Amino acid sequence: MQGMSVHDRLAGQLDRLCHVVGLDPAAPVQLLSGVLGEHGQRPLAAPPVWPSGVADDHSPIEFSLAYNASEPPALRILAEVLAPAPTVAANMAATYDFLHHHAERYGLSTGRLDAVRDLFDHDSPYGDFGIWISLVFRAGRRPEFKVYLNPEVAGVDRAPEIVAEALRRLGLSSAYSVMLDRAVRPGELGRRDRLTFFALDLHDGPQARVKLYLSHHDAGVDDVARASTTVDGVDPAEVAAFCARSTGTARFAGRPLVGSYTITEGAGRPVGYSIYVPIRDYVDDDQKAYDRMRPLLDSYGFDRTVLDRAITAVTDRQLDRGVGLLAHVSLRLGPPRPGVTVYLSSEAYQVMPPRPLSVPA
Ligand code: TRP
Repeated sequence: MQGMSVHDRLAGQLDRLCHVVGLDPAAPVQLLSGVLGEHGQRPLAAPPVWPSGVADDHSPIEFSLAYNASEPPALRILAEVLAPAPTVAANMAATYDFLHHHAERYGLSTGRLDAVRDLFDHDSPYGDFGIWISLVFRAGRRPEFKVYLNPEVAGVDRAPEIVAEALRRLGLSSAYSVMLDRAVRPGELGRRDRLTFFALDLHDGPQARVKLYLSHHDAGVDDVARASTTVDGVDPAEVAAFCARSTGTARFAGRPLVGSYTITEGAGRPVGYSIYVPIRDYVDDDQKAYDRMRPLLDSYGFDRTVLDRAITAVTDRQLDRGVGLLAHVSLRLGPPRPGVTVYLSSEAYQVMPPRPLSVPA
């Protein structure tokens, strides 16, 4: 263990996760190496070279397991591509190089990204990231790529106009105004309701999505339920129950709940909705998080033994010895694949100690 590199640690986890969901680890591990760049060779014992916001311990990678009804769970990675000398701007440039490098092999189409990316460049970027990527691995298919741009890159106040212009260029403006009307609390845009990510699928075709993410700070379960009604067919009671059951509360004063709105061509309003619950802020330790997730997975008919095996693939510690391994849980509603996603931290650098949220009576 001593002297193990960041790459070896993360690649070991990824390799084992691939086996859990029945995937060939070769392409995922090769992509992981590209994400980490030369920093993959740093020893785990050295501090992170860049304080990535992807995970609480600044690992530039977060794993997730996306359950759906029709096929085995997909394995996903959220990642920040690190430049040789990381800064927000340098990592952005490294990300574009990474995408360019893999475009042909993985059939990426960057037309929509190219059409908007200048809006998300800034000389002195605000916040801790400019662009993140996700990679989705499904058995028998090529990996799918998605990018997450930071709408607040020029400051919180500029985010609404940047998103508006990006959607205008993509011909998707009307869905945006529906979302602003329905999902934002009156007067709270840029205050308690923040535009957190502007995400794009890097493929073409009718299914190619733009996803807008709104973080609801200091929100109640009713605020989130109301926001979800932006999307036709979403049952706000289901969203409310998911949030309440996963957190044990109806008021989210810790890390914000985040909603995402899927926008596709030809629809005047968002067509899909997901809610992301930062469950780690609402539990004392990961055993409690697991105990909350378990009945949720059961009630949606998802096989929790896959999660059990995924946890074992990532860590050998006891769940009650830390908090944050189970970082988020999300509910995806609408096309293309509704389901539940569980986010797993690598804890490559650090296990957060358990901390009682409230003094027992
Ligand atoms: N670590 C960040 C956070 O918790 C970003 C992040 C990682 C995130 N995975 C996520 C945000 C899933 C929402 C949903 O906010």
